[in-house]
Amino acid sequence: MSDKLNYKVADISLADWGRKAIDIAENEMPGLMKMKEMYGQSKPLKGARIAGCLHMTLQTAMEGYEVTTMDEASKEGNIFVTTTGCEDIIVGHHFESMKDDAIVCNIGHFDCEIDISWLNKNAAEKINIKPQVDRYRMKSGRHIILLAEGRLVNLGCAMGHPSFVMSNSFTNQVLAQIELWKNTDKYPIGVHFLPKKVDLLYK
Ligand SMILES: NC(=O)c1ccc[n+]([C@@H]2O[C@H](COP(=O)([O-])OP(=O)(O)OC[C@H]3O[C@@H](n4cnc5c(N)ncnc54)[C@H](O)[C@@H]3O)[C@@H](O)[C@H]2O)c1
Repeated sequence: MSDKLNYKVADISLADWGRKAIDIAENEMPGLMKMKEMYGQSKPLKGARIAGCLHMTLQTAMEGYEVTTMDEASKEGNIFVTTTGCEDIIVGHHFESMKDDAIVCNIGHFDCEIDISWLNKNAAEKINIKPQVDRYRMKSGRHIILLAEGRLVNLGCAMGHPSFVMSNSFTNQVLAQIELWKNTDKYPIGVHFLPKKVDLLYK
C-alpha cells in the first residue's frame, strides 16, 4: 500500500488564500507553533489514545454555585446559555415558564440544544429586532429574546474568540497530555492538579 494519504483536491484555486490564512494563524498561535518546534520531531504522544473531558458541572458545585435542573432554572433565570453539545436542553415547557424577556442563546456546537422549531410553531409572534436578535411573544404575553437563532452565539453575535486564546487552550491541553502520558506512575486513576511547570513550559 502507498505511504501517501489518499486525498482529492476539491478546489485548488483556494490554495493561495489558504496559505495566507495559515501565515496569519501561525503568527496568532504562538503556543501551538512552539509545540511544533519543541515536539515536532520527537512526537511524544505517538501511539497515545486520548479522550478529554472537563468536569465543569463537578467544579461548579464545588465553587459554591447552584447546580439545578432546567425545569427549576427556567423559572428563575434571566439569561440562559446552553453549553452542553447535547440535544433538547431548552424545550417548549421551559420557554413557557421563563420570565418576561428572558434571553436565550447557545454556545455549544450544533444548533440542537434549543428547540427553535417549537418556538417558531408555538409563539404568538416573532419580531426580528436586529440581525441575530429575535423577540418572540408567547401566548402567555411574555417574551423570549433569542440570540443567533440558537446557533453558536459567540460566532453569530460576535467575532468568535481570538486564535490566540485557542492557541493557549490547546497548548495547555497538549502539555497536560504529554505530562500524563510520560509520567503515568505519578498519576494513578483519580483527579489531579497538573504541576505548575506545565503552565510555564513554553513561556
Ligand atoms: N462556541 C465555541 O466557541 C465553543 C468552544 C468550545 C466548545 N464549544 C462547544 O461547547 C460544547 C461543550 O463543550 P465542552 O468542552 O465544555 O464539553 P464538556 O463535555 O466539558 O461540557 C459539557 C457539559 O454539559 C453537561 N451536560 C450534557 N448534557 C447535559 C444536560 N442534558 N443537562 C445538563 N448538563 C448537561 C455535561 O455534564 C458537561 O459538564 C460542545 O458542543 C463544544 O463543541 C463551543
